[in-house]
Amino acid sequence: MRIAFIGGGNMAKAIIAGLLKHGHNGQNILVCAPTQATRNGIVDQFNVRVHQDNSAAVAFADVIIIAVKPFVVPLVCEDIAPMMSALSEDKLVISIAAGVKHATISKKLGHSNRVICSMPNLPTAIGKGLTGMYTATQTDELDIKIADALMNAVGDTVWLKDEKQMSTIVATAGSSPAYFFLFLEAMEKAAINQGLPKQTATKAVLQSAMGAISMAASSQLDFASLRRQVTSPKGTTEQAILAFQHGELDELVANAMDSAADRARELSLG
Ligand SMILES: NC(=O)c1ccc[n+]([C@@H]2O[C@H](COP(=O)([O-])OP(=O)(O)OC[C@H]3O[C@@H](n4cnc5c(N)ncnc54)[C@H](OP(=O)(O)O)[C@@H]3O)[C@@H](O)[C@H]2O)c1
Repeated sequence: MRIAFIGGGNMAKAIIAGLLKHGHNGQNILVCAPTQATRNGIVDQFNVRVHQDNSAAVAFADVIIIAVKPFVVPLVCEDIAPMMSALSEDKLVISIAAGVKHATISKKLGHSNRVICSMPNLPTAIGKGLTGMYTATQTDELDIKIADALMNAVGDTVWLKDEKQMSTIVATAGSSPAYFFLFLEAMEKAAINQGLPKQTATKAVLQSAMGAISMAASSQLDFASLRRQVTSPKGTTEQAILAFQHGELDELVANAMDSAADRARELSLG
């Protein structure tokens, strides 16, 4: 399958790295970007094809991934729409631009039925991303499978039935690496305040987080059951959990995620 990226920035590079790692042939990948320096950098890093003209993506690819900043998406659609309309069948277009709606892209591409919107998060860059995916009901099952396989090259995917849920994906997956970093920071500070040297505190926090995440990922139990399993009555963990609960952790997390989702809706470009 031939894949063209329009835009060769951080996110495009993360996905290209994932595709190459999964055995995709670099000569079947084209990156369109306006700046020569960006194109040169991409060739040096990945040995894929490059072009300055976005319409080259339509001529080259089976799948076009739009990986430009959200405000550039309408311009990109205008660049590729004339060539798309000249084809007997539209090309599959996957957008990764935050907040740009499916209907907007589909309309700009002549009401194409072959548009899929996705929202990857930062760990995509290390192959451990989570991508929220949405498409309209009339999209072909094969297109959905292709898009799913592509984004699975850089992590895992979830498909949304309602595009409005994308703001919750932003709050749950897009922004959440920072929540976890914040929690690690807070634990590290507390461990240092209790007397551990910084290096020891960092190691203890990080390894415990990795252990807990690995257990959660490999266990059949839900998160609450796992927590109960390590919380003996009257033990140390119970005291910590009670302190979190008195501090209304659930409400705090819900408020934080509501704020992120509200902001995602505000930033959405329609
Ligand atoms: N970074 C993230 O964590 C993240 C997460 C989820 C979604 N996203 C979404 O991913 C998209 C890309 O983000 P990014 O972080 O990769 O951005 P980025 O690093 O700024 O890259 C943007 C790319 O777009 C290219 N570009 C600009 N104008 C263009 C045009 N008219 N035609 C073709 N290419 C053009 C730029 O090329 P030049 O270098 O040649 O100027 C650059 O390579 C955004 O819509 C963002 O919302 C990002």
